[in-house]
Amino acid sequence: MQDFEKLGMFYLGRQFDLAAGRRRDDLMLYDSKDLVTHAVCVGMTGSGKTGLCLALLEEAALDGVPVIAVDPKGDLGNLLLTFPNLAAADFRPWVNEDDARRKGVEPDQFAASQAELWTKGLADWGQDGARIGRLRAAADFAIYTPGSNAGIPLSLLRTLDAPPAALRDDRELFVERVSTTATSLLTLAGIDADPVRSREHILISTILSTAWSAGTALDLAALILQIQQPPVQRIGVLELESFFPSGDRFGLATAFNNLLAAPGFDVWMEGDALSIDRLLYTAEGKPRVSVISIAHLGDRERMFFVSRLLNELLGWMRTQPGTTSLRALFYMDEIFGYFPPVANPPSKGPLLTLLKQGRAFGLGCVLATQNPVDIDYKGLSNAGTWWLGRLQTERDKARVLEGLEGAVTAGGGSFDRGYFDKALSSLRSRVFVMNNVHEDRPVVMESRWAMSYLRGPLTRDHIRQLMGPRKAQAAAAGAPVPPPAPAVTRAAAIPASQAGPAGASPRPVLPPEIQQFFLPRAAPARPGATLAYVPMAIGVANVVFADARAGISHTRAMTLVADIDTRLGSVAWADATALDVPVGDLGSDPEGDARFNAMPPAASKARSYDGWAKELKTWIGQTQTLDLLKSSQTGVVSAPGESERDFRIRLQTATREQRDQALDGLRKKYAAKLAALDEKIRRAQLSVDRESEQASQQKLQTAVSLGATVLGALFGRKAITTSTLGRATTAARGMGRTMKESQDIDLAKQNMAAAQQQKAELEAQIEAEVGTLSGALDPSSQSLAPFALKPKRTDIAVQIVALAWAPAWDVGNGSLTPAWKP
Ligand SMILES: Nc1ncnc2c1ncn2[C@@H]1O[C@H](COP(=O)(O)OP(=O)(O)OP(=O)(O)O)[C@@H](O)[C@H]1O
Ligand SMILES: [Mg+2]
Repeated sequence: MQDFEKLGMFYLGRQFDLAAGRRRDDLMLYDSKDLVTHAVCVGMTGSGKTGLCLALLEEAALDGVPVIAVDPKGDLGNLLLTFPNLAAADFRPWVNEDDARRKGVEPDQFAASQAELWTKGLADWGQDGARIGRLRAAADFAIYTPGSNAGIPLSLLRTLDAPPAALRDDRELFVERVSTTATSLLTLAGIDADPVRSREHILISTILSTAWSAGTALDLAALILQIQQPPVQRIGVLELESFFPSGDRFGLATAFNNLLAAPGFDVWMEGDALSIDRLLYTAEGKPRVSVISIAHLGDRERMFFVSRLLNELLGWMRTQPGTTSLRALFYMDEIFGYFPPVANPPSKGPLLTLLKQGRAFGLGCVLATQNPVDIDYKGLSNAGTWWLGRLQTERDKARVLEGLEGAVTAGGGSFDRGYFDKALSSLRSRVFVMNNVHEDRPVVMESRWAMSYLRGPLTRDHIRQLMGPRKAQAAAAGAPVPPPAPAVTRAAAIPASQAGPAGASPRPVLPPEIQQFFLPRAAPARPGATLAYVPMAIGVANVVFADARAGISHTRAMTLVADIDTRLGSVAWADATALDVPVGDLGSDPEGDARFNAMPPAASKARSYDGWAKELKTWIGQTQTLDLLKSSQTGVVSAPGESERDFRIRLQTATREQRDQALDGLRKKYAAKLAALDEKIRRAQLSVDRESEQASQQKLQTAVSLGATVLGALFGRKAITTSTLGRATTAARGMGRTMKESQDIDLAKQNMAAAQQQKAELEAQIEAEVGTLSGALDPSSQSLAPFALKPKRTDIAVQIVALAWAPAWDVGNGSLTPAWKP
């Protein structure tokens, strides 16, 4: 069991023998990488779609693949009902008491029977509490409830953030983002607007596009304001007032204002901001399964939420580097209404783009529906895997098959309609025909028992109960932790010793070799205070941190301002303040009539600055480090500026990619050898059987199947086996006729034994290789060690050490307050 868990093989169930009406021993292992081309699951109500898809999400979580699951029906929260002890008491709070009543048993008793049912169900499918324990440990599970406080609220309307630059730069995507956001906002406000013709849509789009192009976020209040006072005077060639008179605009503004003022609307402003990154990973970089329940929302609100989410997902996706492995999953339990063939709701465009582009970024979409008639099959032609369950009517069946045919032929495959027609007619609950373009033929499978307790839809109270402790914790944690202190400490105030005598003293005249700068004033003028300039030292340096082996070359630009000790004539670089302003932006003239503090004697001599430059270089060499992290397993080093969280996430993706590549390598290396041996065994077996008149299809089947091992998943249904199978079968038929002699049988038996021995050896070899693979690449076992780089002395370039005039406010009590820091 544990073997395939580490290999990105999703255990979805067992293969199913339709003719015999029972499941086979062969595990239905699904190569997770295949999900980057998305999947569709169609079947009538009760056919087991949600059960199958939850099993898929469980497998994803076990493999450390984060998931966002949109839940219109309320039963995906069952993913949080996982009990490693499988005890009746664990089930008790979650059992459906109506079910108990209907059965005429006490709830306690019912809980005990449910616990038993789950224990047995899991055991039938080779699973146990330990596996549930691993599932719980592998990811963080949470339920979000936009527009409600039951779960974790999501604030959707606090801001309408500008999409990331990567998306803004793609004209087509940007326009789509603006348009779908405008449509979804109008939908929410109850205005049915045509994107091309309606002036409401055009105005909102113009407002969004103007703000976002500049990288500015809007909120609802700003939007209402801008509807009344738009940022443009013309729309197209028309004057704004004739295109959309202010009186009419006021009506539109009122519609949004009513939305804002509606009771309960404030919940849309509360909670975590909608951030895909946060939905996919915890603050520590652990994968998450974020169930977003929208069962409590009305149709308009659902559409608004789903299209916002899809847009965010698209924006997030575009900022990710490409990958060939599965990076994250997006699951939607019912797409009816969000992906229709003719209409164009705001959810459709982004979903279509996700399906088209998700593959390159490793974002797999899994879409389920019980309404096969009203979905856009053209859009679904990008979906590589189809699970077809029991369907209600011939019309449904015909429609799905048409859709699947489109997808299969679009992928260059050939479609055996007769096979599907027949297979689909005899499916029972939880049995699906799976067609995966990455495999050479469809398979019939029965979904495995779900580890999650499928109690059905969760109530608000259930969700509250599940998320309560977590919300309390978040509230207790309070404000976010401040960022770590920078390497250079910031001086608080100028010591009184430096405050010179009051009264105007003119700017001192200095030798021309001494460069002078004026620091910009940040603090506003104080009533009654006068401006003074205090002489300080400024140092500008570039420090290069390089490590060729780790592939790092990072330059840190430093601008430091430090006190000059009047008595010692030295500069305290250790107490310097880092300045954000580039030295080129510093002024060369004082502001108005300020007085100048007395110069420390050393500061008037040019050669002091040379000494201070040397000291600065030494200080940098002694104190500055580039603090990175290094993976103990792979030796990969974090990038400068990359947080531990982001580094961990990157490592997870990288290790998954490596693992998938290694598996592909194994496939290439062994597939042909295995197939050749199989063919040899089959030939021998057949001839033995024919001659002993024991030929049986059953045996042939056993010989063909690689059995319920990892090897089966690695080599089982991929193209190479079938072609061999075809050849082997024909060859065997011919052989059966010609081999008559008994010594031929003996020979065949010997041949078979030898071939079987060879195959056993080969399998052992492959299994050993698989074993080392999974151990080394387990993404969860990454341990990180600090990796600090020091600069070489030759890599420290002190460019300027000069005199800096620092503005300060003199309030007349003998002490000065620095005015160059906010
Ligand atoms: N993998 C599974 N493990 C255990 N029980 C299952 C599994 N799949 C389905 N079931 C049982 O079958 C019932 C119906 O299955 P499911 O809810 O998955 O159907 P569905 O196709 O999603 O229906 P709908 O379209 O109405 O949502 C479930 O309530 C559950 O009791
Ligand atoms: Mg369902």
